[in-house]
Order: sequence, then structure tokens, then C-alpha cells
Amino acid sequence: AIGDADRGETLYRQCAACHQVGQGAQHRIGPHLNGIFGRKAGTVDGYARYSKGLLRAGNDGLVWSLDKLHAYLENPKSLVSGTRMNFAGLSDPQDRADVLAYLRQFSDS
Ligand code: HEM
Repeated sequence: AIGDADRGETLYRQCAACHQVGQGAQHRIGPHLNGIFGRKAGTVDGYARYSKGLLRAGNDGLVWSLDKLHAYLENPKSLVSGTRMNFAGLSDPQDRADVLAYLRQFSDS
């Protein structure tokens, strides 16, 4: 489904407890999410708290395509064993599509 970025901005409040995005975004509990689309997992500059599980996934070839982001947001620990992202996940595909449409505005790819 095509995502609705405006609705996604509201849904993103669940992510904002741990992640910043947009101009001036800083690392918090989680890395900032600027430029996440198309990036190898676990490689945001300056974030020093990645789990071994996420670093391994990146080294094994995980790149944050739209499909992989859908899978991670649906169930983080099922896509990335050992991830430290303690988030229950978004079970509704439309919610995921909307959050990802919002996030995509802060990525070039
Ligand atoms: C990692 C997105 C909610 C904490 C990540 C990554 C993405 C992401 C794409 C991978 C980053 C990378 O590879 O550089 C989101 C979105 C959320 C959300 C869209 C909401 C729908 C949360 C929440 C928390 C959290 C609520 C805190 C309770 C973390 C942490 C990592 C992470 C600690 C690093 C995981 C690791 O190293 O294993 N998140 N996240 N996230 N997120 Fe989230």
C-alpha cells in the first residue's frame, strides 16, 4: 500500500520516544533515522550502542529497503535476532506503510 506521510507523522510518536528524525536530529536511545532508506543496517555515523545482532545483520548484507523496514517494524526480533530495539512492532501493514512514508521524506533513496 502507498503510505500516508501525514498519518505516519502521528504514528511516529511511538518511535520518537527513542528516535529523532529531521533537521538537527540527534542519537537518543536509538540512532537518528535520517537517510535510513538504502543504508546498510547498523551503520549510522556516531551511534555507538548497536547490538551485536544488528551489526551482524548488517555485515551479513541487511540493507534497509522498504521491504526490510516493513519486516523490522512488524517484528524487530524476528527479522534481527538479538536486536536491542525493544518495540512490540506495528502489526497493521497500513500503519507501517504510513510511518515509512513519513520517514522516507528524510532519506534521499
Ligand atoms: C534501531 C526504526 C521504535 C529503539 C532501529 C532501526 C530502525 C528503527 C530503522 C535500525 C537503525 C539502523 O540500522 O541504523 C524505528 C521505528 C520505530 C522505532 C520506525 C517506531 C515505529 C523504537 C522504540 C525504541 C527503539 C520505541 C525504544 C524503546 C531502537 C534501538 C535501536 C533501533 C535501541 C538499535 C537496535 C540494535 O542495535 O539492535 N529502529 N524504531 N526504536 N531502535 Fe527503533
